[in-house]
Amino acid sequence: MKIGILVSGRGSNMEAIIKACQAKEIAAEVALVISDNPRAPALEKAGFYGIQTALVSKKKDPSKETFEKEMADLFDQKKVEWIVCAGFMRLLSPTFLSRFPNRILNIHPSLLPAFPGLNAQKQALDHGVRFSGTTVHFMDSGCDTGPILLQAVVPVLQGDTVETLSARILKEEHRLLPKSIDLIARNKVKINGRRVEILENP
Ligand code: GRF
Repeated sequence: MKIGILVSGRGSNMEAIIKACQAKEIAAEVALVISDNPRAPALEKAGFYGIQTALVSKKKDPSKETFEKEMADLFDQKKVEWIVCAGFMRLLSPTFLSRFPNRILNIHPSLLPAFPGLNAQKQALDHGVRFSGTTVHFMDSGCDTGPILLQAVVPVLQGDTVETLSARILKEEHRLLPKSIDLIARNKVKINGRRVEILENP
């Protein structure tokens, strides 16, 4: 299964996916990484693994429509079947989503529907929850609202800071995202409205 990855920043989740693909731990291949940010460390990281990258900068294309069309066309050219948003800091329009219907995954650092949007780890700490975690879900046009595929829970410990909680969550993210892609690649996932069926023991 050919996948494309959208990134905006550091790219540690992207790296976890690339490593799992190259080690043949999952039945997928990363065909293209697109960043909307010229300074994203993810671009250099992807290059290090020999993965083709593209920069689609919103600055040079003022309309969201043009910007998204450019990304979708690049993915089409590479015959990308699935897209993974791995730290991609933008919402996608219904037009873009309709070009890859139910074939876009996102990862978010909280147990959705709690704490969507920015600074999820800080939101969790400020709220005083005892557990948080990460969610892999299908993208829809809302902010972190699409049907949930997998979640992993981590405890919030006494004295946690945004940094310590984020690091604990990130470790789970690096496990959960490749696992989600593998389930899809092996045809083990069925979406029924909001509920996602996994056709094997998770
Ligand atoms: C992750 O915490 C992910 O859940 C969120 O953005 C962060 C990206 O980190 N969407 P990285 O760029 O993969 O290191």
